[in-house]
Amino acid sequence: MYRSHSCGELNATHINTEVTLAGWVQKSRDKGFMIWIDLRDRYGITQLIFDEERTPAAITAKAKTLGREFVIQVKGTVIERASKNPNMETGDIEILVQELTVLNEALVPPFTIEDNTDGGEDIRMKYRYLDIRRTPVKNNLLFRHQVSMQVRNFLSNENFIEVETPYLIKSTPEGARDFVVPSRMNSGEFYALPQSPQTFKQLLMVGGMDKYFQIVKCFRDEDLRADRQPEFTQIDCEMAFVEQEDILAVFEGLTRHLLQEIKGITIGDFPRMTYADAMRLYGNDKPDIRFGMQFGELNAVAQHKEFKVFNDAELVVGIAVPDGASYTRKEIDKLVDWVKRPQVGALGMVYVKCNADGTFKSSVDKFYDQEDLAKWATATGAKAGDLICVLSGATTKVRAQLSALRMELAERLGLRNPEEFAPLWVVDFPLLEWDEDTERYHAMHHPFTSPKPEDMALLETDPGTVRANAYDLVLNGNEIGGGSIRIHDKETQALMFDYLGFTPEEAKAQFGFLMDAFQYGAPPHGGLAFGLDRLVAILGGQETIRDFIAFPKNNSGRDVMIDAPSAIDTTQLKELGIQLDQ
Ligand code: AMO
Repeated sequence: MYRSHSCGELNATHINTEVTLAGWVQKSRDKGFMIWIDLRDRYGITQLIFDEERTPAAITAKAKTLGREFVIQVKGTVIERASKNPNMETGDIEILVQELTVLNEALVPPFTIEDNTDGGEDIRMKYRYLDIRRTPVKNNLLFRHQVSMQVRNFLSNENFIEVETPYLIKSTPEGARDFVVPSRMNSGEFYALPQSPQTFKQLLMVGGMDKYFQIVKCFRDEDLRADRQPEFTQIDCEMAFVEQEDILAVFEGLTRHLLQEIKGITIGDFPRMTYADAMRLYGNDKPDIRFGMQFGELNAVAQHKEFKVFNDAELVVGIAVPDGASYTRKEIDKLVDWVKRPQVGALGMVYVKCNADGTFKSSVDKFYDQEDLAKWATATGAKAGDLICVLSGATTKVRAQLSALRMELAERLGLRNPEEFAPLWVVDFPLLEWDEDTERYHAMHHPFTSPKPEDMALLETDPGTVRANAYDLVLNGNEIGGGSIRIHDKETQALMFDYLGFTPEEAKAQFGFLMDAFQYGAPPHGGLAFGLDRLVAILGGQETIRDFIAFPKNNSGRDVMIDAPSAIDTTQLKELGIQLDQ
């Protein structure tokens, strides 16, 4: 037996017990006649004491040779500590060591394995297995496990069954590029790794599985950000014989369950907002509704004077910054510079200070009088003491710019409290999205999403305005999940591919299997997928998913620990029938 107890469980009730512990040397303090060692494992830290008078001399001598991160096993007696540490679970006791075995030596680690390490991001990624020994990283993995377990419990109780779907498949159109895998047995042909199990879960519904879920890896070759990894995990779900309302109810239930079980938070209101409202009020399809600063559209009250910039704009829109009237000229200039950064791209910003005495002072006083500015205050909900920031331009662009400013200001004002949770369903997404580059429509969610029946006729006349039975779950300004009611008949699916610019031959070659299946009694069905990494990170009060993934990729999609991707040798390439240009 390597150990009788873990390093996290011994306390005063164990005094005088003989124990065997195993773990890593976190640090040691050598006072000559006495040595203390902090022994660490996954469960905690226990203090060991080697004492000239009570520990065999040879053992104490050996203890002096132990380096950081050596793996050791000790036998000894639990004794009461002379000076207790109330901040440690095991702070009342220590182990008076009698036997010591070095199970493995360790090189000096390239960074300190402590909560606040001296190691930078790159070095910690290269030695991720050492980083995982640190409490913050370890705790994130334990936290992820808890969330996964709660998800599995909840969905099993709701009669969902977990079914595994294949990874070697052909392209699924979720809007990113595929990672492809060459086939040795079918020279010149390739599998694609799934961007999601979308088509398979629909086929499971045709197969009568009724309620499916899977905690599953998905692969997308896209540009990486804090909330994106090339391989990530979905909680993927599908249900048969359901309408949108049924799906929202189940997954609202899952979200409530997780917040209750994981965070001890009971969610009251679970609001819904249409996509159109989200864009109008927050300039964003994933609004953070923990705080206000809703957009006020100002066209009607700002385009009647001689101010050409506003008069020429498609949209003039502003937000009220709480207590912003006290900003100095310099601070406001900095805000203006911020919105003019290329990442945001505004051409300028107009501002209005709402003074405590009810008067206004604006950067456009030349054009607008107090009466005009009072109307702006009403439209943006600004109160005395606030600052109104106004941007103008093409609707889509200016909304994105003001949304970026709103989030930045909320961050600065401390309004994005990570321990507060505000879930939101965004519903009625458009079915199609115009792509400037290819000059044609793309499916906004994916091509299997059904249009709202009442909007079907618009497909011929005004496709951009057709709404879909598609919805996203937003949590604290992050898109946690998305899904839709699917098309389940061959004709509508064929029509959709046609609208998306597929020839009948292309549609058949890529998705013939699905359309064929629809001819054999496909039930009405729909579903959604949550991004597990994002969900875990947000519940953990953070937004960088990398910290909640055991072995993540860096921003260029590399695993720097195993050095992947890497070249493969020519024999292997030959076997695969692949020739690389020199
Ligand atoms: P969607 O593409 O919206 O839908 O993906 C579902 C959720 O997965 C998460 N996600 C990601 N997380 C980390 N890194 C990424 N690169 C990444 N891409 C997506 C997001 C997102 O909301 N098949 C459909 C679901 C359905 O219709 O049922 C789908 O995959 O949190």
